[in-house]
Amino acid sequence: MWKILVVVAVTVVAIGGCKERPGKGEPGADLLKSRCGRCHPFDVKKNHTTKEEWEQTVTKMMGKGAVLNNDEKGVLVDFLVKYYHP
Ligand code: HEC
Repeated sequence: MWKILVVVAVTVVAIGGCKERPGKGEPGADLLKSRCGRCHPFDVKKNHTTKEEWEQTVTKMMGKGAVLNNDEKGVLVDFLVKYYHP
C-alpha cells in the first residue's frame, strides 16, 4: 500500500515541477508575484492579448490597491503581454 502512495506523491511532485511559471526569473515575474500576488495567490488570468488591454487591467488593479510606480507598471505590462495571453 505504501508503495502506491510513494508513486502518487512522486507523480504529483513531477507534474508540479513541470508547471513552471512563465518568464520565471524576469523582473516582471517578481512584480507580478509581489504586487499582484497579494490578491491573486496563483497566476492571474491570461485573458488579454494586447498591450492596451493589459494596461487597462493593471490600471484597474492599481485602483484596487496594487502598488506600482510608472516604471514598474511598464515592466509588468510588457511582461504580461509577452507571457500572459490566452
Ligand atoms: C487589492 C487586491 C488586488 C490586487 C493587488 C490585484 N488584483 Fe487583480 N483582481 C482583484 C479582484 C477582486 C478581481 C475580480 C474583480 C474584477 O474583475 O474587478 C481581479 C481581477 C483580475 C483580472 C481578471 C479581470 C479583468 O478585468 O481582466 C486580472 C487579469 C487581474 N485581476 C490581474 C491583476 C494584476 C496583473 C495585478 C497586479 C498589477 C492585480 N490583478 C492585482 C483584486 C486585486
